Amino acid sequence: MRKYGRIAFLSAACVLAASVASSVLAHGNVTPQAVDTSALPDIGEAWLKQNPYKDNAAAIKIGESAYGQNCARCHGLEAESGGIAPDLRYLELGESGDEWFIERYQHGSAHDGKVYMPPMGDVLGQKAGWAIRSWLETKHQE
Ligand code: HEC
Repeated sequence: MRKYGRIAFLSAACVLAASVASSVLAHGNVTPQAVDTSALPDIGEAWLKQNPYKDNAAAIKIGESAYGQNCARCHGLEAESGGIAPDLRYLELGESGDEWFIERYQHGSAHDGKVYMPPMGDVLGQKAGWAIRSWLETKHQE
């Protein structure tokens, strides 16, 4: 039982790696696209745990485009995942969802020596992250 479980996990990981590679090829550009967040209030350098832009209309708009440029190739257009990466519409709303969101956004995800999601914090910045979170909350599904 355990053995089969492990084999299934490994082949799922291979499929994941292969599909990420092919979607990267299909979409060409994998360089993170800078996000203009100058219209949003400054929130300082220290990483927050709660979304300071929740329900902020300007942030929602910026977040939608930032998502499309930096996240959609793995998490799917309009946040509807095609299965390569988790469907972000199901993230919890509110504070606990915020905390998990920003943790992954900032640091990405790597295990078993493979990068599943690259860290986004240093390249895109905290303001862009919270803008994306604000937009994602408008797409939330239970
Ligand atoms: C190269 C593909 C890729 C890109 C680009 C990417 N992600 Fe991810 N993301 C993943 C994968 C794969 C996981 C699952 C990681 C795991 O299970 O360890 C994930 C997990 C997450 C999670 C946790 C979801 C959960 O249900 O636990 C969040 C939040 C997230 N990503 C946000 C983002 C945001 C925001 C962006 C764009 C700024 C982004 N990701 C860009 C591949 C990607």
